[in-house]
Amino acid sequence: MGKTFAVIGDPIDHSLSPNIHSAAFRELNLDCSYIAYRIPKDELGDGVEGLKKIKIDGFNVTIPHKVEMMKYLDKIDESCSLIGAVNTVVNNDGVLKGYNTDMDGFLEPLKKRNIDISNSNVLLLGAGGAARAIIAGFAKEKAKSITIANRTIEKADNLVEFAKKISLDANAITIDEIGESAKNYNIIVNATSIGLQKEPSPISLEGIDEKTVVYDIVYMPMNTDFLKKAKEKNAIIIFGYEMLLGQAARAFEIWHGMEAPYNAMKKALLGGF
Ligand code: ATR
Repeated sequence: MGKTFAVIGDPIDHSLSPNIHSAAFRELNLDCSYIAYRIPKDELGDGVEGLKKIKIDGFNVTIPHKVEMMKYLDKIDESCSLIGAVNTVVNNDGVLKGYNTDMDGFLEPLKKRNIDISNSNVLLLGAGGAARAIIAGFAKEKAKSITIANRTIEKADNLVEFAKKISLDANAITIDEIGESAKNYNIIVNATSIGLQKEPSPISLEGIDEKTVVYDIVYMPMNTDFLKKAKEKNAIIIFGYEMLLGQAARAFEIWHGMEAPYNAMKKALLGGF
């Protein structure tokens, strides 16, 4: 019998995950389907019950349920407990196991480019849920240090505590305090939502060069002003869609136990822009 998968969240109509996973099923001739299922913020418990009733084989979890979903899991993978949030669930006869593929999805484009994370000083913009998975990734790859810059300093302070707990040297500043210091970092990541509404780059990239890695996790629009400014400086740029694909490929591999057809998934995703 065919297998069924879903992505849950709210809003969910613009999710690109159904396209990406359906393309993978087509490429490999898998008898599977993948649907987007809207579950409002305070209805997660009932929503998960519903998914179990229809014997869903697995599902992705997105905003606003990534943290809340932790309490409905029966088993928790290490990636998931480290980050404290879940984005991928396997349903094995009603037993739900959670994973977090955002961390590996984030790291994948850096590894593909052979970027030496272990000698890097990182500037991270943002201190929300995505920033947490990114910090765990830099800790795993033993980055030299991370500066966490956020509009609300208290949230950056909290993530500095988290980083230090997992042995990553960290400090917090406000985004305004960055000033002209971007050039002091090897890797600069935007993990705020700035750019989604076509806003200008939140920081100056004056002084960065062709060795600086500039990574935006905003994937819509693909060419944010932040990345455009980085391109003008000939920096190494990484697009938000690459992280999106990376986490989807990892989820695919967890569910299907085989290598994800990355190029077919990429083609489907880029066709959606
Ligand atoms: P996600 O799960 O995608 O990380 P989130 O947890 O809501 O989403 O985090 C959004 C991040 O974008 C936060 O760091 C937020 O800054 P605050 O903590 O100060 O709210 C940041 N952000 C969103 N809009 C912003 C803006 N206009 N200026 C600066 N930072 C912004």
